[in-house]
Amino acid sequence: MSASAPSDALVFFGATGDLAHKKIFAALQALVRRGALSVPVVGVAKSGMTLDQLKERARDGITRFGGGVDEAAFTKLCSLLRYVDGDYADPKTFAQVRQALGDAKAPLHYLAIPPSLFGMVAGNLAKSGCAAGARVVVEKPFGHDRASAAALNTHLHEVFDERSVFRIDHYLGKEAVQNILYFRFANAFLEPIWNRHHIRQIQVTMAESFGVEGRGSFYDATGALRDVVQNHLMQVLGFLCMEAPDWQDTERTRDEQVKLFRAVRTLKPTDLVRGQFRGFLEEPGVKSDSTTETYAAVRLQIDNWRWSGVPIYIRAGKHMPCSATEVRVELHRPPQVVFSEPVPPSHNCFRFQLTPRIEVGLNAEVKVDGERMVGEPLELLAIDQQHDEMTPYERLLGDALRGDGTLFARADGVDECWRIVNNVLGSVVPVHPYEPGSWGPEIANESLLPAGGWHSPRIAAK
Ligand code: BG6
Repeated sequence: MSASAPSDALVFFGATGDLAHKKIFAALQALVRRGALSVPVVGVAKSGMTLDQLKERARDGITRFGGGVDEAAFTKLCSLLRYVDGDYADPKTFAQVRQALGDAKAPLHYLAIPPSLFGMVAGNLAKSGCAAGARVVVEKPFGHDRASAAALNTHLHEVFDERSVFRIDHYLGKEAVQNILYFRFANAFLEPIWNRHHIRQIQVTMAESFGVEGRGSFYDATGALRDVVQNHLMQVLGFLCMEAPDWQDTERTRDEQVKLFRAVRTLKPTDLVRGQFRGFLEEPGVKSDSTTETYAAVRLQIDNWRWSGVPIYIRAGKHMPCSATEVRVELHRPPQVVFSEPVPPSHNCFRFQLTPRIEVGLNAEVKVDGERMVGEPLELLAIDQQHDEMTPYERLLGDALRGDGTLFARADGVDECWRIVNNVLGSVVPVHPYEPGSWGPEIANESLLPAGGWHSPRIAAK
């Protein structure tokens, strides 16, 4: 991984918002604890709060959502913290930010605010002299479709060059996602079989047992395809299927990701099934005639030498039977039947569980004890960890402060991911109701059925 000069201040917009409360302050405390944050931190928001009230809110957020306050680290964080209260449209707000930055010359501006405000904030940062030598971190969603993502990038690029833009996709900050890439390229035994000759199909399931959790109006305007497939799950696919990266070189690593995305075929309506859990229309903030999907299943094809002809199935849904994200890479069967078993051996597969545990398993067949040549499936578990050592936000904010963009989405990659889904966004494909607690609409088992059926994450089978 390569990094440029570290930032000498962190400014974060949206300091009194939900993301800051639930994730960012906890990440900042963790960064302070491991000595990765010692520069001024300037929170910006329009809330009427004082600095002391912001500190209290930070304490509350870390206590409730961030694993608890570490008094020493929290005290240090508070000593770094400043607060500017003001409107993002008002030049005075930015004059105060500039003042709070003191003689900082390379601030990192973190825009934890709705994307509709990015253009205005970036423009005001430029006008106030806060953008010179600076980098900017933006949160998803990066646009609503391909065109709006391009427009968003145009606004950002008016002020920041692409190397100074850090787009957070928190999946790239997950230990389990990085582990896919590591496992693939740090082992010699995978490469010879990681291709169309040996791999029959890939399945990715992102199941969440909960619903929209008070985010009805956001979710109604978004849907599963935009919320998690176009970004998080495409990034997982990138690590799973890309060619070997040059990890010492940020841009060459991201070039490989983008090369892979470019080879993914644009989805057609027949490649998508959309579902909506019963009860979604009664959620606060959701329109009573909404056709937004809370479940999406897609079939993808990658048109390149390695993956041509290997079907890739991705599904994601709310109100599923469990919360788990799992990747299953299934191999072809042996070429001939050698043993006359009543049930043919199952397909060997690699299983990567990303949540709730970090697991890498190889499923194989072994002979059962006795005189008959009959087998049973067994899983060799390579990794089985309960938690990430660092949260994705801690990891990614730390990287951004050091100027390392490797684990951030680049504009051309985001554009390609939008290109893949763009033609099937909205109501191009009908939405089918499903019962909460089920695996989505039945039609996914008809029109989009993987060979051998959908595999539920292992936790669901326990
Ligand atoms: C977010 C989505 O980006 O990712 C949520 O907006 C989703 O709808 C969440 O629940 C999943 O993230 P994680 O880290 O809990 O798997």
